[in-house]
Amino acid sequence: MDDVEGTDVYGDYSEFYDVYVGDFLDDLPFYMEFASSVRTPVLEIGAGSGRLTLPMARSGVRVVAVDISPSMLSLLNARLEDEPPEVRGRVSVVEADACELDLGEEFDLVIVPYYTFNYFLTEYDQKRALERIRTHMSDSAYALLDVFIPWGRLEYCPPEPILRNDAVDPRNGNRIRSWNSFILDKEKQQDYQKKRFEITAPSGSVTNKEFTIQRRYTLPDQLERLFADNGFAIEGVYGGYRREAPKVDCEQMMYVLQKL
Ligand SMILES: C[S@@+](CC[C@H](N)C(=O)[O-])C[C@H]1O[C@@H](n2cnc3c(N)ncnc32)[C@H](O)[C@@H]1O
Repeated sequence: MDDVEGTDVYGDYSEFYDVYVGDFLDDLPFYMEFASSVRTPVLEIGAGSGRLTLPMARSGVRVVAVDISPSMLSLLNARLEDEPPEVRGRVSVVEADACELDLGEEFDLVIVPYYTFNYFLTEYDQKRALERIRTHMSDSAYALLDVFIPWGRLEYCPPEPILRNDAVDPRNGNRIRSWNSFILDKEKQQDYQKKRFEITAPSGSVTNKEFTIQRRYTLPDQLERLFADNGFAIEGVYGGYRREAPKVDCEQMMYVLQKL
């Protein structure tokens, strides 16, 4: 499978992101537990359309929301327009590649939520991102990384599309159905997620759109080495947002890092 081209990694998919993710906020309490006691703004890497940014800001947390995707950030900016001035005033939106981030500031908390770390597609980019994250951390700061490992598909990757969503977009009444199919390149540790969206307008007309999301997966022992080699100590590792003990084949891992 060829690499997915382009800098706006979310491109046309952005318009479906909020419907796709729905009202998922299971991870918010985990981040709030740390965010509610920091002295600086929270640096959010891969803030996207603001799924976490907005509830954090509404709770009084200041957020510097960084993302590489102009289309995702335009959704965030549009949502901010609907917020009261005090909430809007707590959020700074920065369009930047996390691998090149240079804000000239240190933060007490850096979050890399919802598998954003998987979007650093090579070990080189993972290292560049970690170096940038570390540079933006104060001495006592925590970095929280939510990482996905496709254990369930490593043995056998089912080729057929799987229905993922069937929801109505409240903005326009379109019924959105989506299917995911997956290809794994085990040598390059790449996970290609092909998404097909079927959009049925209230008039009954149907259109189809397809996108491929490319992510890198990194196994726990590789992650441990990567973090240590890049100046991080692992303060905690969990198998979910409720601090579950990680199982051997845990697909979702939360890492709590500090500077070594
Ligand atoms: C799965 S989405 C998460 C969005 C949001 N944080 C959420 O939880 O809904 C991953 C986000 O990471 C962003 N991203 C991918 N590569 C990036 C990079 N190199 N630098 C900054 N953001 C990046 C994407 O544009 C996308 O918005």
